[in-house]
Amino acid sequence: MSSSITLSKTQSHDLDFVINAERRPENCNYVYQWSYAEHLQALSNPNQTHYIIKLADTGEMVGYVILDEVQNSSHSINLRRLVVTKKGLGIGAKALKAIQQIAFIQLNAHRLWLDVFTNNQTAYQLYKEVGFIEEGKLRESYLRNGTYASQYIMAILKSEYI
Ligand SMILES: CC(C)(COP(=O)(O)OP(=O)(O)OC[C@H]1O[C@@H](n2cnc3c(N)ncnc32)[C@H](O)[C@@H]1OP(=O)(O)O)[C@@H](O)C(=O)NCCC(=O)NCCS
Repeated sequence: MSSSITLSKTQSHDLDFVINAERRPENCNYVYQWSYAEHLQALSNPNQTHYIIKLADTGEMVGYVILDEVQNSSHSINLRRLVVTKKGLGIGAKALKAIQQIAFIQLNAHRLWLDVFTNNQTAYQLYKEVGFIEEGKLRESYLRNGTYASQYIMAILKSEYI
């Protein structure tokens, strides 16, 4: 099954959905946790853009995505966070295509990059499928629940974006 999606700027009244999604057991081990205040601040931070992913036909909220460093002087934008609540329907792939278009066309990025925990094979495969290239590994870079987790750095350049 394939669902069309839209991305719209997150509003403060959407943040309950965002925080709930971020804290769910199936997501919280793979993404950082922000407080309500941190998400709220991101909505008005000119260096960040915060989007809700919705199903195009019903308007149902099915995820969110945050871009960071959108004003970076080297035009290197960071895909800071992605969560999809209805998994396995191709929503993540479509959201990433939409985010690439926003980054490269709207925000004039030269490079769009991210980090992903090395044990997050679902996200890693998805990023590869939509054109991100693994650039390196940050070994044992993040202390998580008493264990040092490693992260891949992945990026796509404007010249690689189709
Ligand atoms: C990672 C995430 C965003 C993927 O969203 P999604 O909408 O389920 O992804 P899609 O349905 O578009 O799947 C696309 C691809 O992901 C990969 N994928 C999906 N499920 C997978 C699984 N169980 N194992 C391995 N790869 C998988 C496949 O390559 C899949 O392609 P295919 O459908 O052609 O097989 C979602 O699972 C999520 O929110 N996870 C928790 C938070 C997270 O990890 N965020 C990313 C942090 S860097």
